[in-house]
Amino acid sequence: MTETQTAADAVATTRPTLLEARDLHVEFSSRGRRARAVDGVNLAIGAGEIVALVGESGCGKTTLARTLLGLERPTSGEVRYDGDVLNYSSKALKEYRRQVQLVLQDPTGSLNPRHTVYEAVAEGARIHGLPDEQEVVTSALSRAGLRPPDRFFLRYPHELSGGQRQRVVIAGALALDPKVLIADEPVASLDASVRGEILALLLKLRADLGLSALVVTHDLGLAWNIADRVAVMYLGRIVESGPVEQVLTAPRHPYTQALMSVLPESPERVVLTGEPPDPTRIPGGCRFHARCQILASGKAAEAGVADHCRTNPLPILPSTADAQAACYYANNTT
Ligand SMILES: Nc1ncnc2c1ncn2[C@@H]1O[C@H](COP(=O)(O)OP(=O)(O)OP(=O)(O)O)[C@@H](O)[C@H]1O
Ligand code: SF4
Ligand SMILES: [Mg+2]
Repeated sequence: MTETQTAADAVATTRPTLLEARDLHVEFSSRGRRARAVDGVNLAIGAGEIVALVGESGCGKTTLARTLLGLERPTSGEVRYDGDVLNYSSKALKEYRRQVQLVLQDPTGSLNPRHTVYEAVAEGARIHGLPDEQEVVTSALSRAGLRPPDRFFLRYPHELSGGQRQRVVIAGALALDPKVLIADEPVASLDASVRGEILALLLKLRADLGLSALVVTHDLGLAWNIADRVAVMYLGRIVESGPVEQVLTAPRHPYTQALMSVLPESPERVVLTGEPPDPTRIPGGCRFHARCQILASGKAAEAGVADHCRTNPLPILPSTADAQAACYYANNTT
């Protein structure tokens, strides 16, 4: 076992759970049909732990993130913070938002072009009536790496680089002294060099402030660099999860293997066939079966699991920290 893996395992197993989804379902009605955007998710984020949530477009990552933030109400199941089920009264939600903050990517409009950096970072502090506003803004900018902070007070977003704007967004979240950051594609629009800086900042915030984070991303390389644990989502479910090094060096679920195969260093490319995922039509059996390369190649039949693949729904994975995959073939052959 490598050093990183040991560290990740230790983080996952010894830190108490801070934020948790339990058997979470979130449905939307979409043109008269029911879209099961989140369809049975258990996920626990430990204090000081960074979890990456990966999966292709439309698999439910943002919906899961928004539900964890209390912005979306689950159809069933629950969100728990620090052991308590989330209370959706507006007063309780306001208090909750101080603890669990959303970091959106800029420049998708998370910064108002007419607001100065000071106003952008002070906004949350004003909503929550925090005393010593200037001190709060100064300290948040400094923690986000914008120093000296007062030099940024009167600047407007268009006067900043992409990386600086992303730091302002992070400072706005930090101003409220949260315990958890939920970052939805935090670096997707940034250049590679700036992306590294922002990732380093998130790691530093974890080291300095003990922050936990859920980082939603398409980018497996980013997950590798930042996360202790990774959860791979497909059509509303987590299909594989575990310590990042274990999952990304030895993926067990065929879907994770296909995602990994697009990385440049991968020896063999797996091209997924079949319909792109549609949460209004979740197939029976294993939800990945119509696109699964292991089933298509006959390997699942050889292992005697092909009928299960096509007809038996898999159980929802529990929120354990250990590596696990929701796949008949993986669990039969390893
Ligand atoms: N408010 C809504 N009303 C109806 N359908 C929705 C709504 N929000 C999300 N969906 C649907 O739920 C599914 C999951 O969407 P979601 O945005 O959570 O996916 P995602 O994994 O974040 O995708 P991306 O990587 O493109 O951001 C999609 O099919 C989407 O069309
Ligand atoms: S359960 Fe069967 S169809 Fe589903 S991913 Fe595993 S091998 Fe493929
Ligand atoms: Mg999204």
